[in-house]
Amino acid sequence: MAKVVCVLYDDPIDGMPKSYARDDLPKITHYADGQKLPTPKGIDFNPGELLGSVSGELGLRKYLEANGHELIVTSSKDGPDSELEKHLHDAEVVISQPFWPAYLTAERIAKAPKLKLALTAGIGSDHVNLDAAVEHGITVAEVTFCNSISVAEHVVMMIVSQVRNYLPSYDWVNKGGWNIADCVARSYDVEGMHIGTVAAGRIGLAVLRRLKPWDVHLHYFDRHRLPEAVEKELNLTWHDSVEDMVKVCDVVTINAPLHSETLNLFDEKMISKMKRGAYIINTARGKIVDRDAIVRACESGQLAGYAGDVWFPQPAPKDHPWRTMPHHGMTPHISGTSLSAQARYAAGTREILECYFEGRPIRDEYLIVQGGKLAGVGARSYASGDSTKDVDTTPGFRKAN
Ligand code: NAI
Repeated sequence: MAKVVCVLYDDPIDGMPKSYARDDLPKITHYADGQKLPTPKGIDFNPGELLGSVSGELGLRKYLEANGHELIVTSSKDGPDSELEKHLHDAEVVISQPFWPAYLTAERIAKAPKLKLALTAGIGSDHVNLDAAVEHGITVAEVTFCNSISVAEHVVMMIVSQVRNYLPSYDWVNKGGWNIADCVARSYDVEGMHIGTVAAGRIGLAVLRRLKPWDVHLHYFDRHRLPEAVEKELNLTWHDSVEDMVKVCDVVTINAPLHSETLNLFDEKMISKMKRGAYIINTARGKIVDRDAIVRACESGQLAGYAGDVWFPQPAPKDHPWRTMPHHGMTPHISGTSLSAQARYAAGTREILECYFEGRPIRDEYLIVQGGKLAGVGARSYASGDSTKDVDTTPGFRKAN
């Protein structure tokens, strides 16, 4: 019998929904590159229900308990008195979500001698110290592709809403105004703009594909160059460095994982190389940009706007400066946890658990670390290192929790 600790975000403040806005989800059988959707032997939830918060339990309880395992579900994740910390000593599996990350630092991994599997119900395993996972022989897996399209849709929404000045205009309506000049004094068309993505993996490529019909000029930088046919189809300009790309772009969207090469990539120096009045859309990870350099750039006009859904730490403290800086379009970390995405990552989490408990191989495309080294997607998209090390020293972190 294994202890499975599952850390999820809190339920809605008014309790779990009694009904939903829509009755069903569109049927999708495979992802854009042909990868199959999750294939668990069964699911114990109705797709379209809220599964990602504590009471939703990712629909896992019936399956785990029927197989004799213990399931602990909690949102209490930070600090020495958290529920997570209490269960670390005998947890065999820790399930976490990037939206509400259970940071598995080296210190925590040292307190979890039985830990075998760190499973991300979503995409992005930077909340796990990958070096420590390698050292302790812990498998790190995530549900690759489960919410990549969800994020790509969010990125396009944010690009268009920033460039057209949607949020301030919506605000004028709520305030009872009809202030057309106030609304349009910062409003432009996306048509004709140069838009570049840092990384063209599952999300980055989906963003490029979705933007193609907008009659824009598309650019990308990635450590893996896309096939020539794709570059031609989308009329892409490839750059051999981020610096080279940002110089020519009106909008830069960041879609790379957080690891040692991308940590703090958009610092003061990088931002100063961008066109004055460019926009940054970051739905990848908060720590890929320098928090305060972004604030200064939004204040000075070097950036016309900044939007995204990823912060550090998460949850972001009440006084996080991105909440109040000018021209931002931030949301909490939601782009990858639409109800549609939840159905996929809950099923993918179940698939990975079934494989783990039945001794069957976990799909290669779900693996980040296995057998003491980066594996699968981890070997292609990550670099070794620790992106959790300042979790305990970041100002405001403890306060927020
Ligand atoms: P992916 O693995 O398909 O693509 C990642 C791409 O990044 C690969 O093409 C890789 O070559 C490239 N890359 C890695 N290091 C790089 C570097 N130093 N410079 C340039 N390119 C680099 O992953 P996917 O699905 O596209 O997701 C990307 C990231 O987006 C995730 O790791 C996660 O951090 C974030 N994400 C955010 C979500 C949200 O809800 N906001 C949800 C899902 C993912």
